[in-house]
Amino acid sequence: MPKRRSFGSLSARIALLHALAHIELNAIDLAWDIIARPWHEDLPRAFFDDWVKVAAEEALHFELLAARLANFGAHYGDLPAHDGLWRAAAATAGDLLARLAVVPLVLEARGLDVTPEMATRLERAGDGPSAVLLHRIYRDEIGHVAAGARWFDWLANLRGLAPEEAFRERVQQYFGGQLKPPFNRAARSAAGFPPGYYEPLTAAFAKTGE
Ligand SMILES: [Fe+2]
Ligand SMILES: [Fe+2]
Repeated sequence: MPKRRSFGSLSARIALLHALAHIELNAIDLAWDIIARPWHEDLPRAFFDDWVKVAAEEALHFELLAARLANFGAHYGDLPAHDGLWRAAAATAGDLLARLAVVPLVLEARGLDVTPEMATRLERAGDGPSAVLLHRIYRDEIGHVAAGARWFDWLANLRGLAPEEAFRERVQQYFGGQLKPPFNRAARSAAGFPPGYYEPLTAAFAKTGE
């Protein structure tokens, strides 16, 4: 992800939109991967319906970002991009519970933490249309985190695991490192993902146990 900076310059805004387009393109693949991969459990029809809807929304997000890049004379592929999302997918290919923990509940939830501020900075820089686009993506992403939380809890229960504990264990094993506050608690809670899952994975909590 681009570092904190003002979006006053066109090149900074193109870099941001490009990075976001890259994330959305990966998100399309990740949604289809969770549908197509032969997981250990028999999954209900509603599981697949949810991720097909997510895949469609990620595709729309990519298209909207690509169109905005085109407004600036830029295209997806103009800039280099990281492969962090796909590495997370590969690492969790053997365990659906780990996939749900790391992809929707760590990575997409992180998007909820950082997107409102990005939109505000775009507005301040006078780029209203890009800010509106980010707000649109943000609203949909609350639904993606909600799908992650719903299916994580469902699967943890199916396996007879306590969901919050299972979450922390999977994140420690498959994501490594601590989660970075500040969290957008309001959006996370709106997605059915309360602080009891993620707060204990912060450095501050590790220090004080609170
Ligand atoms: Fe998206
Ligand atoms: Fe998403």
